[in-house]
Amino acid sequence: MFIYLDAMSWLSTISVLFLLGAANARFTFVQTPAPAPRAHQQVTPFPRAEFSIPFNSKAPRRKSKTAAFAAVRRLLSPTGDDNGTNVVALDVDRFEVDYLANITVGGQDFTVIVDTGSVDTWVIQQGFNCKDPNGTLVPQSTCAFGTAGYDTNASKTFQPFPDVNANMIFGNGAVLNGPVGFDTVAVGGLEVANQEIAVPNVATFNGHGIVSGLLGLAFPSLIIAVFNVSDGQKLPYDPFFFSAVKQEKLKDPIFSVSIDRVTVDQLANDNVTQNIGYLSFGGLPPVPILNTSVTLPIQGYSIVNSTAIPSNGPDAQFLFYTVDIQSYTFPGSTTVLTASNNTVLDTGTTFNILPEDVAAVFAAGFDPPATLITSPLNGRPIYVVDCNATAPEFLVTLGNTTFSIDPRDQVVPSAQFDNGTTVCTSGTQPITSLGDAFNMQFILGDVFLHNVVSTFNPISKEVTLTQRAKY
Ligand SMILES: *[C@@H]1O[C@H](CO)[C@@H](O)[C@H](O)[C@H]1NC(C)=O
Ligand SMILES: *[C@@H]1O[C@H](CO)[C@@H](O)[C@H](O)[C@H]1NC(C)=O
Ligand SMILES: *[C@@H]1O[C@H](CO)[C@@H](O)[C@H](O)[C@H]1NC(C)=O
Ligand SMILES: *[C@@H]1O[C@H](CO)[C@@H](O)[C@H](O)[C@H]1NC(C)=O
Ligand SMILES: *[C@@H]1O[C@H](CO)[C@@H](O)[C@H](O)[C@H]1NC(C)=O
Ligand SMILES: *[C@@H]1O[C@H](CO)[C@@H](O)[C@H](O)[C@H]1NC(C)=O
Ligand SMILES: *[C@@H]1O[C@H](CO)[C@@H](O)[C@H](O)[C@H]1NC(C)=O
Ligand SMILES: *[C@@H]1O[C@H](CO)[C@@H](O)[C@H](O)[C@H]1NC(C)=O
Ligand SMILES: *[C@@H]1O[C@H](CO)[C@@H](O)[C@H](O)[C@H]1NC(C)=O
Ligand SMILES: *[C@@H]1O[C@H](CO)[C@@H](O)[C@H](O)[C@H]1NC(C)=O
Ligand SMILES: *[C@@H]1O[C@H](CO)[C@@H](O)[C@H](O)[C@H]1NC(C)=O
Repeated sequence: MFIYLDAMSWLSTISVLFLLGAANARFTFVQTPAPAPRAHQQVTPFPRAEFSIPFNSKAPRRKSKTAAFAAVRRLLSPTGDDNGTNVVALDVDRFEVDYLANITVGGQDFTVIVDTGSVDTWVIQQGFNCKDPNGTLVPQSTCAFGTAGYDTNASKTFQPFPDVNANMIFGNGAVLNGPVGFDTVAVGGLEVANQEIAVPNVATFNGHGIVSGLLGLAFPSLIIAVFNVSDGQKLPYDPFFFSAVKQEKLKDPIFSVSIDRVTVDQLANDNVTQNIGYLSFGGLPPVPILNTSVTLPIQGYSIVNSTAIPSNGPDAQFLFYTVDIQSYTFPGSTTVLTASNNTVLDTGTTFNILPEDVAAVFAAGFDPPATLITSPLNGRPIYVVDCNATAPEFLVTLGNTTFSIDPRDQVVPSAQFDNGTTVCTSGTQPITSLGDAFNMQFILGDVFLHNVVSTFNPISKEVTLTQRAKY
């Protein structure tokens, strides 16, 4: 989850790749089907996890910072059309939910963002320089991390990695630069020795006094930030989960994520909402589940001339948790083609981002119906809905197995005008809301993921979905 600023422009961690377009290939995605699901179960095959840690959520942020960061988002916008003229009117952060967890690095405690859409784990280094979006040095308090930072000198287990740097830019405008090293990282009792991590000492960050870093859980092919200072070469390494598997810390090489829906009241009244799901290693989180489960192969990509062609051949690179959808079912769904190839399961995106006609027919089924407007933030189409509307039922079928989405997940409080009026959006938005860079990359985001336990096996390259009991 790394999208605080982008409720209306949809930029998620996935956008890291695109925003770094100058230095990295900007991918075009081509549609082809993934291999057939390997297995289909009624009963989920996994044990209760060996290690689990509850998620917390973040606090609302200050409006002035939102406005400041609109500046850097404009600079980084892949299409340049996000001129930000209406940014100040929309307090887009009020309703964003980040899924945070407490971890230790070298025995020091940090609250970090848990992100299945990026891979480099980092914690801010004590004594860091805070910069505003223009690169001007400002007081450390402006960056508003949750702690004074990681004191590498105070850790007996820290080892520097000389002449190696990490240079990270995120879709929300955060920029983190600085050295790389190794230390013991512990998450929910799972302890990994000599984990390579970034320890940035220069930051442009729009914190809220809680977060001090990030735990990345995506595939190593997404490592784009760590490089050799002498020759500029990228330096791949084992991210946290892969190290845990190599160090034989887990019986099963899997991790699971359960992310709970959070009410508007929780977001409005609490600075930190505790216990909104779990990150679990080696099995399932401690939440009630039903006997509806399926295991799907993750779709890899062959990258040729900046085009990412889905491929499961020997050259396949695994980027995201991409699967095929057999069908979506809701009132009127028989009138449109609802299958979609290449759909990314992403905890870093709030919404389901689906084919245009699927979003349109679904929007018509709300009572009262959702209406299509042009986002004041980026000029893209977006379905807005009355916050008191009732949503139609929405079923997702993958590998012959059907999962249901709770209608409450389909009305998403997304922004607030200065006069206090809340704006809600449909949980299901058209692919066109993302802009061209996301060509043919459909997404099932938090709206879907609130309803399932997602169990990832990046070693066998499979994902298992299990329907959660209603909550
Ligand atoms: C999936 O990809 C195949 C091969 O490119 C194509 O024939 C099919 O129409 C695609 N399915 C959808 C739903 O777009
Ligand atoms: C995480 O750490 C923060 C700050 O120390 C603390 O307030 C919070 O209760 C912790 N949360 C959990 C779930 O342990
Ligand atoms: C750690 O030690 C180095 C070298 O002595 C020093 O430059 C740096 O300021 C120290 N960092 C902190 C946070 O004290
Ligand atoms: C950045 O620089 C521009 C142009 O000089 C200025 O208008 C803007 O206010 C500056 N932004 C910040 C956050 O200092
Ligand atoms: C970085 O590059 C230099 C020059 O090519 C090389 O000597 C050194 O071994 C490299 N370091 C790493 C960690 O790869
Ligand atoms: C949230 O944090 C602010 C600033 O730190 C504090 O003034 C306020 O009392 C906190 N609210 C709650 C509900 O904890
Ligand atoms: C799921 O299936 C197992 C084995 O058939 C059974 O023991 C269990 O009660 C079922 N659980 C639910 C929630 O239906
Ligand atoms: C801002 O962007 C919108 C949508 O692309 C466009 O209509 C508008 O003219 C732009 N405004 C400025 C001041 O550039
Ligand atoms: C939604 O319903 C509540 C309670 O019935 C009411 O107070 C509120 O004004 C309604 N909001 C809208 C946007 O209609
Ligand atoms: C789905 O059902 C069809 C028809 O019963 C069957 O041919 C196919 O093998 C099934 N696929 C999976 C993954 O179970
Ligand atoms: C609040 O502002 C929005 C945007 O200007 C406007 O559409 C809405 O009607 C206003 N609501 C109230 C209650 O004034």
